[in-house]
Amino acid sequence: MRERVYLNDGWKFSGMYEDRMRFPDFDESGMEEVRLPHTCKELPFHYFDEELYQMVSGYRRKIFAPKNWQGKNVFLIFEGVAHESEVFVNGKKVCEHHCGYTGFSINIGDVLNYGAENFLTVKADSRENLNFPPFGFVIDYMTYDGIYRDVYVEVREQEYLEDIFVKPQAEIGQRIYTPLESEITVHMTEDGGLLRQWMRRKGETEYQLLGEGEVKHKKEILRFSNFQAELWDVEHPVLYEIRTELLRNGKILDAQVVTTGFRKAEFRRDGFYLNGRKLKIRGLNRHQSYPYVGYAMPASIQKMDADILKKELGVNAVRTSHYPQSHYFLNRCDELGLLVFTEIPGWQHIGDERWKEQAVANVRDMILQYRNHTSIILWGVRINESKDDDVFYERTNAAAHELDPTRPTGGVRACKRSSLLEDVYTYNDFIHDGKQPGCEKKSGVTSDMEKPYLISEYNGHMYPTKAYDCENKRTEHALRHANVLNAVAGQSDIAGCFGWCMADYNTHKDFGSGDRICYHGVLDMFRNPKTAAAVYASQQEERPVLEISSSMDIGEHPASNWENLYIFTNADSVRMYKNERFIHEYQREESHWHNLQHGPILMDDFIGNAFETEEHMPKGQADSLKKLLNAAAHYGVAHIPKRLYPAILKLFLGYRMNMAQVTDFYTRYVGDWGGASTRYRFEAIKNNKVVKTVIKEPMKQVRLQVQADHQQLKEEYSYDVAAVRIQAVDEHGNILNFYNEPICFEIEGEGVLIGPSVIALQGGMGGTYVKTKGLPGKILLKIKSAQTEPICVEFMVEIKENTKECSAETESV
Ligand code: GAL
Repeated sequence: MRERVYLNDGWKFSGMYEDRMRFPDFDESGMEEVRLPHTCKELPFHYFDEELYQMVSGYRRKIFAPKNWQGKNVFLIFEGVAHESEVFVNGKKVCEHHCGYTGFSINIGDVLNYGAENFLTVKADSRENLNFPPFGFVIDYMTYDGIYRDVYVEVREQEYLEDIFVKPQAEIGQRIYTPLESEITVHMTEDGGLLRQWMRRKGETEYQLLGEGEVKHKKEILRFSNFQAELWDVEHPVLYEIRTELLRNGKILDAQVVTTGFRKAEFRRDGFYLNGRKLKIRGLNRHQSYPYVGYAMPASIQKMDADILKKELGVNAVRTSHYPQSHYFLNRCDELGLLVFTEIPGWQHIGDERWKEQAVANVRDMILQYRNHTSIILWGVRINESKDDDVFYERTNAAAHELDPTRPTGGVRACKRSSLLEDVYTYNDFIHDGKQPGCEKKSGVTSDMEKPYLISEYNGHMYPTKAYDCENKRTEHALRHANVLNAVAGQSDIAGCFGWCMADYNTHKDFGSGDRICYHGVLDMFRNPKTAAAVYASQQEERPVLEISSSMDIGEHPASNWENLYIFTNADSVRMYKNERFIHEYQREESHWHNLQHGPILMDDFIGNAFETEEHMPKGQADSLKKLLNAAAHYGVAHIPKRLYPAILKLFLGYRMNMAQVTDFYTRYVGDWGGASTRYRFEAIKNNKVVKTVIKEPMKQVRLQVQADHQQLKEEYSYDVAAVRIQAVDEHGNILNFYNEPICFEIEGEGVLIGPSVIALQGGMGGTYVKTKGLPGKILLKIKSAQTEPICVEFMVEIKENTKECSAETESV
């Protein structure tokens, strides 16, 4: 039976900017002790040179190979090393790998000394002059460095299961029916093996036997039609565990469990269908990077992003732009029912033949390594936004179809009517600039109307927006996202769209705002929400959403005109009160984004029926004055629309009002100057119940609102990290978007901080990361600022034992 031993601890590391280290025998003195996931260089939040992380680095580690491994197959597996790696065991080079985003494994059984220590050396080159994807030209994201994913050894018997692909594509007939088909590759030294398969719903204890099949070839197909599964869906992502055993003469030689779900995912000419139901894909693009450590984050932080996408942003899909991402992230997408479009590494540039050869190898590796993730519905087999190259892309498509006949291919392009060798035309539609329509029509883009069409990016660089930008800008950013979602929802033959992008990210000098950040996210780098996040969040029905685009401070707006204030909600209606006086109940149907279930709602009434009830005006006068003042609030006094001129005349001539009176009403009812503070209260109503309340009034006190993604930290295969999001809020929990003040962190106990101990909030938001040290116990994180009460967050660290690494001492016991 197989045994897995994680090798994430106990590494020594040294990084250099030139190729001066002589591998494998470089000087070990001065090496640093590190754990994986590891980054070669901790980086500032922004304003740094990307050359900082580009280096040749050496990693060293001892592995004790117990005697009982002898004669077996000992695979050494790297899940991700950025970017070119060479691996040496006891001084002998055992492999090299030329992709920072796919895993690789090597059987080191023949080079190990058993019952003894062995020396493992890894050379990792993160310089960007390498001749394979994504390198060769500019790239709009940082590519980082280091052994940034897990490393482990898997010891298998002489005969073992090499690979299992449990096909996720279900067939739906009269009833839900899934003939279970698996493609199993075995490594046998003799004839006469048997394969047996079992299944259970994830979470159940008992397996049910599916059946058996003889091993006649290296690759066998097992097909069982006695299998009935509940379907995996975005709402009910039911997963199963399929256990495959390899036997000879009744003895189990190897066993492996594949966790998978069954669904019928289809791109048709008129859209995407999941289990026979048409589903509009509403997704975001995700980069796998974080402040300070780039790619080097463990399982929990990878999972957190999937949770944020599904539960906070309410999207049903993610594109792993522009490379295969962590299995921890994908596992969580499987569990949550988050659809995934995943693609090979690359950005616009296509290199020479050697480079292309590697890109084809990347397609193969991506599919072989990721095809058991049920959530993946589309393979991206073109270099993102590259030009047509039929000879090259025929190869990538063929590789994908050969290795996974169950899923279609796509390939992201920036050009219209390009050569379509893929199954789905996937296009970055950046037409929307605030004025142009939200999206192009399918017929204006694709080269084949018979094939499905999907929008893989929109917005992003068209309107970079910082969390501390002025309110109007943040609102416009949000509306542009709503505009595209609305336009796509109105096109029945577009399968859906992926916005650019989930979170801000560090980037190269050629992109971004000069500080090495692309402010393209609907979240900031710490995953705090910008206004645009509310557009996505309000499209889901799971939890009530009510966000107001404004702090309701008129002075934040040019010439003190309210202009466009919006309500983002998934409620049926929103009641607005001003100083506890009811003003207006905004109905969902009032949204101008008619194709969205829950479009933004324009707030265009600040007066309600106050002129009748409080000022005792006749109805005609009250109506005219209200129209005039609401229009003045929206457009500004100098820009009252002509259609209101008759009402104005009626006020001045019919009701004998003068300018001073009108101004006085404006000041009291719209400008809210003087007197007591104005308090706005908004209530979201769903099924006649108040489901959420938002109160906006001039702040009196700043408070820090701190949210740790988890506080029970667990060391299992490596260290754990908790992401701590910090927001400066007022008494009612509203983010104070211009509170860009310093925050200090103090940490005690069994944890350390990732990043600096003093940060400045940006847009009233920020964060930090708490990392475990390998010991059980408590961690206390104190968060202070000059103006707020200190906050203390407590974490507990638990050490979970997994297969222990052997040493000479433990072996002899
Ligand atoms: C696209 C590109 C993305 C990102 C985006 C910004 O062209 O594919 O990686 O750069 O633009 O909007």
